Amino acid sequence: MHAEGDVRPRIAIFDTTLRDGEQAPGFSMREAEKVRLAVKLDELGVDILEAGFPIASEDDFSGVRAVAKAVRRPVVAALARAVDADVDRALEALDGCARPRLHTFIATSDLHLSHKLHMSRGQALEAAARAVARARRHVDDVEFSAEDATRSDVDYLVAVVTAVIQAGATTVNLPDTVGYSTPDEIYKFFTAIRARVPGAERVVFSAHCHNDLGLAVANSLAAIEAGCRQIECTVNGVGERAGNASLEEIVMTLRVRPDKLPFATGIVPGQIYSASQLLTELTGEAVQANKAIVGRNAFAHEAGIHQDGILKDRRTYEIMRPEDVGVPKTTMVLGKHSGRHALKARCEALGIVPARHELDDLYRRMIALADRQKVVHDRDLVSLWSAMKRVPAARPAHPVHHAPSGARPAVAALRAEDVPAAEEAGYGYGV
Ligand code: KIV
Ligand code: ZN
Repeated sequence: MHAEGDVRPRIAIFDTTLRDGEQAPGFSMREAEKVRLAVKLDELGVDILEAGFPIASEDDFSGVRAVAKAVRRPVVAALARAVDADVDRALEALDGCARPRLHTFIATSDLHLSHKLHMSRGQALEAAARAVARARRHVDDVEFSAEDATRSDVDYLVAVVTAVIQAGATTVNLPDTVGYSTPDEIYKFFTAIRARVPGAERVVFSAHCHNDLGLAVANSLAAIEAGCRQIECTVNGVGERAGNASLEEIVMTLRVRPDKLPFATGIVPGQIYSASQLLTELTGEAVQANKAIVGRNAFAHEAGIHQDGILKDRRTYEIMRPEDVGVPKTTMVLGKHSGRHALKARCEALGIVPARHELDDLYRRMIALADRQKVVHDRDLVSLWSAMKRVPAARPAHPVHHAPSGARPAVAALRAEDVPAAEEAGYGYGV
């Protein structure tokens, strides 16, 4: 957040979950789903929200139109190739939008020009400037992207960027389209382009990094250090192929390491987890368990030494608080690596207070069970305890008597089905 008096440079977060993210196999969304996600992205605090590529299909057109009408605070961008028909269609989709941005692009690498577009460098430069000028006749906010910028000839790229700025572009985005660059290359690349382009100070430079080598976030951070003030990214890092730079990883890196990266964003961190969960719910595509910030295991601790440390002082194994990103609480996963300390803490949370010798017995039973099944859920623990105390784990004939508020529930009254499984305690897909 950029609090009053915060002198750190502000990085605009351009979210392209609904465009680059939605282009990925398995991630397509219907209009109502796009609107739901757009509303969430608004709550998340993104500055710019790319809603789609209107010329691509009727669905894309109506999706952009619906999103443009549904949100008022963020800028809504629509993508268009650098051809008249695309620009006109995107402008039409943005009609009625409170804060429209036309985002036009053309590839600038020789590989794309000769093998994909069959155009000369001169023709592409002319098309880029023409599309920007056409858009500027209708909207004040025009972004130009040079697709495959990082594999383009630098002298030619300088000429293209100079031409689009002259034509009225307000943001210049230089994508690492195939995720080929390394962070030091990205830093040098943006530093060189910004130094060589006349009028560079009049526009916002932007990075759009793909994750083919797993470097998208590192490259985006390098771009910020080289003067980019807009970063294009997606929730959960979704996007074409290996995806785009992950919004939550960039934002939390800036928050956790202001000593190294003194930059602010307008993102509300407490909305990160629910945005991630909503995307999962809408697309049915689960986040990998160990995904930074939003994965099921991002704040889960199973190893005994770690659980012991966390219980004594959570800073031993957590560099950010789960609740800061909207994750309800740290998960203690009981498994074969867990220690007695974690078992005791879990028991206490469930209202079970074993004596010392009972804890040892319960621990042995828990480890034996963990050897058979990977994770020991709360309901398993209750069953083990019930067996130990010779109380049947099955549903009692009489209703459960709840303890008065504030008091621990009576253990004998707990049924296995009354206790949420560990993964239902606030993590991961399906919760
Ligand atoms: O990866 C890319 O180059 C893009 C542009 C269209 C911005 O997505
Ligand atoms: Zn992209």
